[in-house]
Amino acid sequence: MIIDFSDKEIQMTVSQVRRLLSCREHFAYVYTFGCQQNEADSEKIRGILRAMSYTVTDSAEDADIVIINTCAVRELAELKALSMLGNFKEKKRRNPEFIIGIAGCMTAEAHIVEKIKKSFSYVNFTVNPGMIHKLPELVLSALAGEKRKFVLADNTNVIEGVEAVRQSEAKAWVSVMHGCNNFCSYCIVPYVRGRERSRESSDVINECRELIKLGYKEITLLGQNVNSYKSDMNFAELLRKIAEIPGEFILRFMTSHPKDASDALIALMGEFPEKIAPHFHLPLQSGSDRILKAMNRTYNMERYLSIVEKLRSAVPDIAITSDIIVGFPGESDEDFEATMEALEKIRFDMVYSFNYSKREGTRAAKMENTVSEEKKCERMTRLLKRQTEISHEMNEKYLGTFQKVLLDSVSEKDGKRIYNARTATNKLVHIENSGELPVGEFITVKIDRIGAFDLFGKEIK
Ligand code: 5AD
Ligand code: SF4
Repeated sequence: MIIDFSDKEIQMTVSQVRRLLSCREHFAYVYTFGCQQNEADSEKIRGILRAMSYTVTDSAEDADIVIINTCAVRELAELKALSMLGNFKEKKRRNPEFIIGIAGCMTAEAHIVEKIKKSFSYVNFTVNPGMIHKLPELVLSALAGEKRKFVLADNTNVIEGVEAVRQSEAKAWVSVMHGCNNFCSYCIVPYVRGRERSRESSDVINECRELIKLGYKEITLLGQNVNSYKSDMNFAELLRKIAEIPGEFILRFMTSHPKDASDALIALMGEFPEKIAPHFHLPLQSGSDRILKAMNRTYNMERYLSIVEKLRSAVPDIAITSDIIVGFPGESDEDFEATMEALEKIRFDMVYSFNYSKREGTRAAKMENTVSEEKKCERMTRLLKRQTEISHEMNEKYLGTFQKVLLDSVSEKDGKRIYNARTATNKLVHIENSGELPVGEFITVKIDRIGAFDLFGKEIK
């Protein structure tokens, strides 16, 4: 269901909150765990808080309301969120009017909600990812001192009409679809974010057009399975429409499932090398066909390699990055060697690697033959070491080249001014420059030094 935040009823609640807060300035702090999708949701949550007249702050200490936007993908993220929650107990004791709410993927897990009900009595409310339009109602009831509320999933919603408070004036996230239908056996996402649903293409295209008009230089289209987008057009068609908008900007998208890396999408990337970033994040997860099958990934190494080959021939110098899970149940030494071989064959620019984490409710949680933590760490160390070498080797071709980069930020180090930027291939570049460089704009740099994870260069006029 499409929910319009500008709907009369929602706006009446927003106005009621505004009236209650009108006595003085109130501050809101939102902390984000997890993926870019969560970052994008947090920008919308800040937008809703601002609509209710809160001033968004970076300081939890000064905040009248704190929202923790949680991630459920691995146990560690959950533990961190619960530990952060613990930090606010004292603040609530000192100031009972302080409001604390939990959003994000953890709030869609029944056992977590139970835990919050029992052990975190100072939490005012929880709100599911697909339900953030309920925030005004929840805040109003917390301000009125009503009972705690726990809003559970209605994972069929697409929320439109929220004006996000964007973190950057140059880079923007645009969600195009939500949820996931793939049910990879290790993954909690389909359970917490629900089935796939895509936004209307006209809503997505208009949002991008607006952003480009406002001067945004980079747009990242987001979805748990971004390229399985489906409305009156498919993902490649949507991407073409956005790439055709006039202006100087770069388009990125993530995250892609190999099953949806269509020939049309690959050809389109070759057709728009200036507009569509030559970067593909394509999670492999494992190099063993046996494990891929147990993970329900629906492709094998042969199919994955053929996509990589097509990408490299259609898009010169494309950067390919990936996610890999180490220690999936039943992963033998032989299976892990197949993953190490895959690194050699594919030569990723970068790999985000994760120790397998058991997620209650998923199919893999019931699998036997689990891998010990010690073994996982051993394998992870080997994988990281080899991939760091490969990443370094992959960066060698940048030495001495001229790169158009988007300037992200500036920081001072040892009395020197260092600018941080990204190449079109999404490589981090550090630029030492004592002068004023235009953060948020494209500049050209010459790369004079490389590392495994970053490049170093000088501005070229
Ligand atoms: N354990 C470890 N890593 C996981 N991921 C997803 N679920 C799990 C899990 N249960 C990783 C995958 C995915 C990335 C976002 O997180 O590699 O691509
Ligand atoms: Fe974490 Fe997945 Fe939720 Fe993103 S969608 S916050 S990775 S559980």
